[in-house]
Amino acid sequence: MTRQPSLAIQSLRIREAAHADIPHLLALPFSGGLSLKHQDRIERQGRDEARYLLAVRGGRIIGHLLLKWDGPFDERVRKLVPACAEVEDFVVAPEWRGQGAGGALLTAADERCRERGVQWIGLSVGLENPSARAIYEHRGYVPVPGSEHRVSWLQPDGSGGEVEAHEDCVYLVKDLA
Ligand SMILES: CC(C)(COP(=O)(O)OP(=O)(O)OC[C@H]1O[C@@H](n2cnc3c(N)ncnc32)[C@H](O)[C@@H]1OP(=O)(O)O)[C@@H](O)C(=O)NCCC(=O)NCCS
Repeated sequence: MTRQPSLAIQSLRIREAAHADIPHLLALPFSGGLSLKHQDRIERQGRDEARYLLAVRGGRIIGHLLLKWDGPFDERVRKLVPACAEVEDFVVAPEWRGQGAGGALLTAADERCRERGVQWIGLSVGLENPSARAIYEHRGYVPVPGSEHRVSWLQPDGSGGEVEAHEDCVYLVKDLA
């Protein structure tokens, strides 16, 4: 007997973000960082530097992933890994986790790389985020020895300003060949 995908998966769609999505992206409670990031990513996509992929269900954005063609941001990591595209800010709404949206975003990122002739894809994962790391390893990513590094970003401080946050990470890569 053929197993039917659940209703949630049947109606899931992965597509690239557009300017019209910005108000909806700004309202996402699960998407951290500065509000300008969405506009910036859509502009980078317009310059063919990145793809900003959205998971959409029933017309609502339930997850996103930024795929950048220019590889690791961290200079030391760049020297350790093959030339690769990089996944950043991969997140799914808490109520939709564990139901295939994240896997669909990762599959779409793999496909975009293959279409472009990019053989390797990589990402930073927090040393204290074993659940995300298990998902990546399940999906074929392997850790790069000696690639521990710190990822820093700006986020709102709750009173109109910005504050720097950071996470200690390891780098993982996947061979798409
Ligand atoms: C990481 C995250 C985006 C994954 O999204 P998700 O919708 O929960 O992922 P899925 O349910 O589609 O699972 C993805 C795949 O991992 C597999 N998987 C899930 N949990 C797993 C585990 N503990 N061990 C191994 N594989 C696992 C699933 O079976 C699925 O496999 P498939 O794609 O081959 O079908 C989501 O959990 C999240 O937003 N977490 C918080 C933010 C975060 O940590 N982001 C990553 C930062 S590096």
